Amino acid sequence: MLTGIGSWLPERVVTNDQLSQVLDTSDEWIRTRTGISQRFHAATGESTSDLAVEAGRRALKSAGDDHVDALILATTTPDYPCPATAPDIAARLGLSGIAAFDIAAVCTGFVYALSAAAGLIAAGTAERVMVIGADVYSTILNPVDRSTAVIFGDAAGAVVLRAGRPDELGALGPMVLGSDGENHRLIEIPGGGARQRSNGQPSEPDDEYFRMAGPEVFRHAIVRMSEAASRAMELARWLPGDVDRFAAHQANARILTSVLERVGLPATCQLSNVARVGNTSAASIPLLLDECAADGRLEAGQGVLLSAFGGGLTWGATTLRWPALTTVH
Ligand code: UT7
Repeated sequence: MLTGIGSWLPERVVTNDQLSQVLDTSDEWIRTRTGISQRFHAATGESTSDLAVEAGRRALKSAGDDHVDALILATTTPDYPCPATAPDIAARLGLSGIAAFDIAAVCTGFVYALSAAAGLIAAGTAERVMVIGADVYSTILNPVDRSTAVIFGDAAGAVVLRAGRPDELGALGPMVLGSDGENHRLIEIPGGGARQRSNGQPSEPDDEYFRMAGPEVFRHAIVRMSEAASRAMELARWLPGDVDRFAAHQANARILTSVLERVGLPATCQLSNVARVGNTSAASIPLLLDECAADGRLEAGQGVLLSAFGGGLTWGATTLRWPALTTVH
């Protein structure tokens, strides 16, 4: 069950007008096609672990814990291709010695990591687990690709889970996870991995950047996120009336509206911060939950539905009844 939450945004705000000065785009296009007004970018030299440590520290404080038995980081932007970034984050949180590993499921990473954490707890391997979603997309975006540069922002969000009873506030419901590898190239960084290296050829400069087939991904995101959310409700035996808040991956405001309609939920359920932070990939859901818990949009006892979609393609969803949490801001 969920016992602590925290998040962290870098200081630098990048507005649509600022992007319009360097790209062939406009504030009007970005707002109407994505719902995004601004996003945050890490400072030069600031990386995923730096944001993750700040979010993790706040989640520990929120949980009133100074120890967990395992730390899972969901990210697409690890500090290095090797080793995983989670052990360094654990060490910097004073948790050296615990199990620590990364999960790569792009924007679905947080939900995959939640499920892995719940599994570690259910198996008795760990009593308390920290899950962090953190991404610094500003380091992998092609600065001249207007279709991706306007969407993504940098952030980290973290939660602490502990063993508990299914009827306690904060208990996670059944997990829905899925993937469609036939479409793995719709979201990709083509260079820098074993596929490109095994050719013995250096990658082209643009191959090191993130690419997305926007309109196709848009369609998959709506179908997969709504199907996963509906399935999670079915497995939890929830009807639409049991959902007080819907925390979907903040991909694009138009996607969020369509998914909400398909799942059959009223607009009052929708939690969103995409206008202020953009699409923050693996950080998106924990950052949203932390902000909403802090400003009162989320209250103890409410039924919360989570759903995410990302590269792979991957998707995942679950339910939980929101616990009484202290937030740290
Ligand atoms: O995080 C998990 C996965 N990600 C997502 O779920 C994101 C899914 N995709 C999207 O959110 C949208 O597809 C985008 C925001 C990426 C693009 O929006 P769209 O409404 O699908 O636009 P489009 O790609 O169909 O492009 C429409 C037009 C094109 O111009 P033409 O060919 O009609 O003349 C684009 O070149 O808009 C143009 N365009 C832009 N114009 C101004 C594309 N990006 C921009 C831009 N500024 N930033």
